[in-house]
Amino acid sequence: METLKIDIKNALSFFKKNDFDHYSELTKNADIALKNKTGKGSEFLGWYDLPVKIANSEIAAINAHANDLRKKSDVIVVIGIGGSYLGAKALIEALSGQFDHLTNKPGNPLILFAGQNLSEDYMFELMDFLKDRKFSLIVISKSGTTTEPAVSFRILKNELESKVGKKEASERIIAITDASKGALRSMANQEAYKSFIIDDNIGGRFSVLSPVGLLPVACAGFDIEKIVNGAKDFMYHGNKTELADNHVYTYAAIRHALYKQNKTTEILANFDPRLNYIAEWWKQLYGESEGKENKGIFPASVSFTTDLHSMGQYIQEGLRNIFETVISVEKPKHNLTVPSDPDNFDKLNFLAGKHLDYINKMAELGTMLAHIDGGVPNIKITLPEINEYYLGQLIYFFEKACAISGYLLEINPFDQPGVEEYKRNMFALLDKPGFEEETRKIKERLK
Ligand code: PA5
Repeated sequence: METLKIDIKNALSFFKKNDFDHYSELTKNADIALKNKTGKGSEFLGWYDLPVKIANSEIAAINAHANDLRKKSDVIVVIGIGGSYLGAKALIEALSGQFDHLTNKPGNPLILFAGQNLSEDYMFELMDFLKDRKFSLIVISKSGTTTEPAVSFRILKNELESKVGKKEASERIIAITDASKGALRSMANQEAYKSFIIDDNIGGRFSVLSPVGLLPVACAGFDIEKIVNGAKDFMYHGNKTELADNHVYTYAAIRHALYKQNKTTEILANFDPRLNYIAEWWKQLYGESEGKENKGIFPASVSFTTDLHSMGQYIQEGLRNIFETVISVEKPKHNLTVPSDPDNFDKLNFLAGKHLDYINKMAELGTMLAHIDGGVPNIKITLPEINEYYLGQLIYFFEKACAISGYLLEINPFDQPGVEEYKRNMFALLDKPGFEEETRKIKERLK
């Protein structure tokens, strides 16, 4: 089994003399705390062995429901926010052809997302797009009460029911939510929607390898068994207990050592735009897990070479509190070379016959060397290629490293108390019943 690789030689100067033994001990202990469920937030460790626990029968059920929706739909709208949409969106974007959504392939429905914002124009335009198309809905909310997906679902469900009738609509809606709690569970039971359960012990941002991520990905026509197998194989890699051999320990240890030396922003860089949403998923995973108690590395992302022409200047010469983690992909999916041109007006014949990927790789190397020279330590994660199997590995790698990183910071990586703050204000401003006192106070404050 080939695994993704990690290379930290360009950040090693931040490992001080005794750090190696120190972090060997710390990462090992953090892993033991995860395994034995003795660390902070241990009630949310359902993700830890999910790849080996997910039953073949559940994968088969996900595939069966996905195939059913695929047959019925030109478009499948996935409704969710945060951990209830980012993983699915990241995997679908990474695996899809970049212009697939512009052509209509029969039998291959378009996957669109809603409920991840409250923009009236987004929803209006989505409904307009759906007007003459056969569509189905997958609504995902662990709590079943999150405002953004709940409002979007209400609007889209209403549209679907008025188009095809209540009965047919109920056959085109799948809910993924808690087993017993929340408005979405009550609705799913009452309307007899097909549904999947998000286990209580799996937090939203760690749920991509559950039906939350797997159902939309299967609906997009990808092989979810391969994703789970990639994650499973990477779990076995986790049996290596030496820091230098264990990629998860290495990543968690070096980023913590960098953080301790004031490298407080981590930029996840890719050289393939298909990975842009992997970066969005990663930002939520790390930002929401680590950013608490006035601690945590700020997760940022860039897509190169595009962003070398926007953020490159800052990375090269701005405030020196950043380090860079590059996801490098060894093999592209397709082959394309630069043609020779007899006129050579653009003076590019020195590139004739060269693969575009080779030019991209030289940009990657050149960028890394420039940034290292500019004082930006570099961590490199190499994926052999972008496919279901290696993305499964990458997901599990980042999830486990995130949990261990949280323990190194001595915080609970599995809660998100800060997310509630804006909701309280929003409900108060919207006069939600039960928030009368907050409404009075906030209106006073705004006078
Ligand atoms: O990671 C998390 O827990 C959050 O980002 C949630 O996924 C997000 O707030 C959506 O919550 P829910 O699935 O309950 O609607």
